[in-house]
Amino acid sequence: MSRKVILSGIQPTNTPHLGNYLGAIKNWVHMQEEYDCILFVADLHAITIRQEAAKLRAQTKETYALLMAMGIDVQKSILFVQSHNPKHSELAWVLSCFTQFGELSRMTQFKDKSAKSEENMNAGLFTYPVLQAADILIYNADLVPVGADQKQHLELSRNVAVRFNNAYSPTFTVPEPYIPKSVGKIMSLTEPTKKMSKSDENPNACISVLDSRDVIIKKFKRAVTDSGSEIIYREGDDSKAGINNLISIYCAVTGKDLPTLESEFAGKGYGDFKVAVGEAVADLFEPIQTEYARLISDKTYLDSCMKTSAEKAMRISAKTLSKVYRKVGFYPL
Ligand code: TRP
Repeated sequence: MSRKVILSGIQPTNTPHLGNYLGAIKNWVHMQEEYDCILFVADLHAITIRQEAAKLRAQTKETYALLMAMGIDVQKSILFVQSHNPKHSELAWVLSCFTQFGELSRMTQFKDKSAKSEENMNAGLFTYPVLQAADILIYNADLVPVGADQKQHLELSRNVAVRFNNAYSPTFTVPEPYIPKSVGKIMSLTEPTKKMSKSDENPNACISVLDSRDVIIKKFKRAVTDSGSEIIYREGDDSKAGINNLISIYCAVTGKDLPTLESEFAGKGYGDFKVAVGEAVADLFEPIQTEYARLISDKTYLDSCMKTSAEKAMRISAKTLSKVYRKVGFYPL
């Protein structure tokens, strides 16, 4: 039996943080054994918001190298840069003719973004979910890992796939959401009732995968907790959100369970524990940072990985696209 295809895109505009790593990317590393994984750096999606060219180029390379450093293995998975495979854009045009204006108008992400960037209300911001549907359907992906913000886009992809299949004959696999085993949400270090986010105004709220050991430990030392002192997890108690978050992080990073952790830190205070969590996170990121430094300085190697993967991606997507062209009635040459 062939393996299921799981697919996702990651925008190159933000360095992944601790929450992204524990909640998503770390899973990919294990999923590579079980699934055919297709991952890409979504640079086409990134330009719906104005980007500085040199910066986008650099960030694309950095994101690619970082995904490799975090354990995405280009021998096992297809890891490519979206704009290196023009088939996505070609399919997106066809699919846009199978997507209703009204459907796109209802996308909450479009409503939010357009409310924020009135001076750049470009059509790409509006048709973005169609490109995303093309990203997914062109590989006949079975599964797409989704966070809350992408659920509606996946639903649209499913509707477009079904609509096309019904108009012609079965063409696309209708993708299912993939809900990963929950790690528990990683919260902000400064406002622990909010999710950890790279766009947080307070730089101490968020740990980047590339933060140095000193910075990581300093941020954990400053993490907001409460006036208590016991290292005990109290489910659902908002006044304990800070210490609960640190405990979740420590367990996720070290693989230890709650009883082990609670006995390890019995009699110790928040201060000691914060340093321990900081050390554990720094230890986790150290090998990733070393590998990243090696990769980012080896452009020849990175380029060759991008090229091999883009070719694999194109081979799969060319098949889907030619089927689609035939079904809609384009005259073949
Ligand atoms: N839209 C996604 C985001 O903003 C990125 C993305 C693009 C994606 N194409 C995709 C995710 C296809 C899953 C599947 O994060």
